[in-house]
Amino acid sequence: MSAERAGGGAGRRIIVALDYPEPGQALRMAERLNPAACRLKVGKELFTRGGPALVEQLMTRNFSVFLDLKFHDIPNTVAAACKAAAALGVWMINVHTQGGRRMMEAARASLAGFQHPPLLIGVTVLTSMNAQELREVGHLEPPQMLVQRLARLARDSGLDGVVCSAQEASMLRTAQGPDFLLVTPGIRPTGAPSDDQQRVMTPPQAIAAGSDYLVIGRPITGAADPLMALADIRRSIGEKNAD
Ligand code: C5P
Repeated sequence: MSAERAGGGAGRRIIVALDYPEPGQALRMAERLNPAACRLKVGKELFTRGGPALVEQLMTRNFSVFLDLKFHDIPNTVAAACKAAAALGVWMINVHTQGGRRMMEAARASLAGFQHPPLLIGVTVLTSMNAQELREVGHLEPPQMLVQRLARLARDSGLDGVVCSAQEASMLRTAQGPDFLLVTPGIRPTGAPSDDQQRVMTPPQAIAAGSDYLVIGRPITGAADPLMALADIRRSIGEKNAD
């Protein structure tokens, strides 16, 4: 599935992470942003507080929503959760690839009845985990090999792409070809503080490495002028700000 077709329009590669504890804060930020210029990500904290009502309010404002709940459970449960998420009408959902082939295939199958199913994305290895922590949970191979293997499994299981670090994007782009979506957090414009992100890339670097979508939170939501911050980032990756 191509990114353009799936995304319903070119030129919106920035996914703004609405990492707020309160739905009101998320809605106020959404009010300031233009749905023609970006998409929005709702994660576990915000969804747990704001629920489907918040997601619906964002979609009513014409935003494409990435519901970042990283489902990881037995195949039957994950399939049911994906179906429930798809029924909300969101644009993108995700599951943990370490749930295995049958779980991912069940997730894919659960979306078959939807006329406009969300993009189904896999999380390979949490970028917060280092090699030592991965060994502790039984992953003895180097992290990059594990990422490669899980991305291949995700693709074989029918997923549309993976979330990965921008540092892994060029490796995955080469291995998986042009149609596999790469969604990358850990993005920082030149000069922006890296906050708690360990290895960051600038937006143009991430696009050059093969990323399709850039998940960006604080450099936009924490900016004195979020609209201008978003416009600057869009300009840096060649998106037109006329809309
Ligand atoms: O504020 P910042 O740009 O660092 O936000 C990045 C977003 O991407 C957050 O919502 C974070 O949870 C998410 N994320 C990440 N690293 C991953 C997966 C998700 O930073 N490996």
